[in-house]
Amino acid sequence: MTTSIAIASGKGGVGKTTIAVNLSISLALQNKTTLLLDADLGMANAHILLGINPELSLDDFISGKSKLDDVITTTKDGLKFISGGNAISNLLSLSDLERHKIIKSFEAITAEPDFLIIDVGAGAEASSMSFMASANKVVIVLTGEPTSFIDAYSLIKAAYLDYKMDNFGVIINMAASNLQAKLNFEKFQSITQKFLDVKLKFLGHVPSSLKIKNSIISRTPLMSNKVVNEETKAFNRLSTNILTLNNNETKGIKFFNN
Ligand SMILES: Nc1ncnc2c1ncn2[C@@H]1O[C@H](COP(=O)(O)OP(=O)(O)OP(=O)(O)O)[C@@H](O)[C@H]1O
Ligand SMILES: [Mg+2]
Repeated sequence: MTTSIAIASGKGGVGKTTIAVNLSISLALQNKTTLLLDADLGMANAHILLGINPELSLDDFISGKSKLDDVITTTKDGLKFISGGNAISNLLSLSDLERHKIIKSFEAITAEPDFLIIDVGAGAEASSMSFMASANKVVIVLTGEPTSFIDAYSLIKAAYLDYKMDNFGVIINMAASNLQAKLNFEKFQSITQKFLDVKLKFLGHVPSSLKIKNSIISRTPLMSNKVVNEETKAFNRLSTNILTLNNNETKGIKFFNN
């Protein structure tokens, strides 16, 4: 049985892809079969952070050229990956029905992974929302900035009102310390829960780090280096904490029909 986890945010550029990539590698290195889906349609860039250039992408599946199994690449860390491709117009103009078809088609993947991590586009666009609603668990990435708070609040509000999602994990990225991150989380939680009947769970923080910045520039994910440091410990901690997050029991189609 596959656990699907959407990594989302209100504001762009808060670190979704960085977290989705390193979290996925952390799980893969723990011998959990993990599939990372770059669902940031139109702005797909997880392959850049991974330092690979897959020949086939989700475009090839959607256009009917390839089977879903054939657009899966395996990285040297044993992570399975579906690239979002570059054909911007194609993917962004998907209808609800087409997105539905994509999500449904995951059932046909030959080897069901233990985890599906979905890097979702920022904001409450229809495409992001339907990927979030189709995942078992939804994680929101925040930074301590007020703009990130406001946009994350709007995203959670839309997810709750339009899709009845009411469980969200929260990761604070670019934090000065875990204590600072926890304080940021508590502030965000008290604002959100004042107005919306949702449950938020603090999953941990990722430090603001030059190593992380450099890993993006050198196109080698930090987790691939297999060294123990503050950053890799943070990603490993997230991979454990995420399992304690409750599922969203919303009706409607789910990845792998779970
Ligand atoms: N923990 C961190 N420490 C330092 N820099 C970071 C950290 N996380 C992310 N960054 C920086 O922020 C930039 C944006 O990160 P990333 O691409 O992961 O964000 P995103 O939320 O996926 O953006 P988008 O909304 O455009 O998809 C990175 O290029 C990197 O330079
Ligand atoms: Mg991204």
